[in-house]
Amino acid sequence: MSTSSSSAAERDFKKEFFKMFFIVFVLLILCFSIFFINYNENNKYIIKTLELNGSTEKGDALFKINCVGCHGITARGLVGPDLHSVTQRLSDKEIIKQVTGGLTPPMPSFEIDPVNMSNLLKYLHSLE
Ligand code: HEC
Repeated sequence: MSTSSSSAAERDFKKEFFKMFFIVFVLLILCFSIFFINYNENNKYIIKTLELNGSTEKGDALFKINCVGCHGITARGLVGPDLHSVTQRLSDKEIIKQVTGGLTPPMPSFEIDPVNMSNLLKYLHSLE
């Protein structure tokens, strides 16, 4: 009698265990797919940006609107660092991630389309 009840409990436990296991598994798959889709989108964005040849003047205008508050009117630095020769320190890909990623507060993430991003890049390259 006692053995059969303990094995029933064991079966219940196993059932619960597999249920939990299944839920964790599904959640992991979900997280992974979200990460993967996001990663792919980011990569497509970067590839598209790097294919374009931006305009320094348009990039300059964008910089004046969005970035001077922190990086200074001549990009010599204020709250944010001096951006002259930043293109020698960071790759284009890293700069794109810096501008769109929002990974280093207080610098916000900018939602900027590839054309404007390539303009900004061109401008930053002109600051040697
Ligand atoms: C609210 C202030 C702020 C604004 C607006 C801002 N930045 Fe920044 N930025 C920073 C700060 C602070 C850092 C330094 C972050 C760190 O390294 O932790 C930084 C870092 C950077 C870097 C990396 C510099 C390096 O030497 O590693 C680049 C490139 C950059 N910003 C470009 C831009 C561009 C382009 C814009 C406009 C689209 C912009 N930032 C707008 C504050 C700002």
